[in-house]
Amino acid sequence: MEKTFLMVKPDGVQRGLVGEIVARFEKKGFQLVGAKLMSVPKELAEQHYAEHKEKPFFGELVDFITSSPVFAMVWQGENVIATARQMMGKTNPADAQPGTIRGDYGVSLSMNIIHGSDSPESAERELALWFGEGEQVEYQKAINQWI
Ligand code: TYD
Ligand code: MG
Repeated sequence: MEKTFLMVKPDGVQRGLVGEIVARFEKKGFQLVGAKLMSVPKELAEQHYAEHKEKPFFGELVDFITSSPVFAMVWQGENVIATARQMMGKTNPADAQPGTIRGDYGVSLSMNIIHGSDSPESAERELALWFGEGEQVEYQKAINQWI
């Protein structure tokens, strides 16, 4: 089953949106298979955002992600990578539709509440970076036959 890496960013944790965000993915029918509240080491932030290393906003981005704890998660389900991106909304909250997480709660481009892997390749890379072997829980949910 497909898995993705989602993370409530420091602004989302500080604003008390962890429960709301988790609830959206639960209600959609996805399954939580890993989660942890953590401070992000600088090296991890730099590796995570390596694709943006040459961008002018890279330094601020790393400073922001390491400024206060994040809530890192692994979610599983059919087409979860693309669907989670749709549920998050566009990168800039100003462009994100109402009903999406960024559209409903985000204000600024740099503080846009949530991260989600953007492709199967990103999901594989990010999950390996953020979650060790023993940190994902395999379990059956009876509801899965209805989803
Ligand atoms: P990006 O990977 O383009 O967006 P997404 O999070 O939707 O995959 O960019 C990573 C993060 O960098 C983005 O969530 C917010 C921040 N960012 C800026 O601060 N300024 C910018 O101009 C861009 C494009 C992104
Ligand atoms: Mg991205």
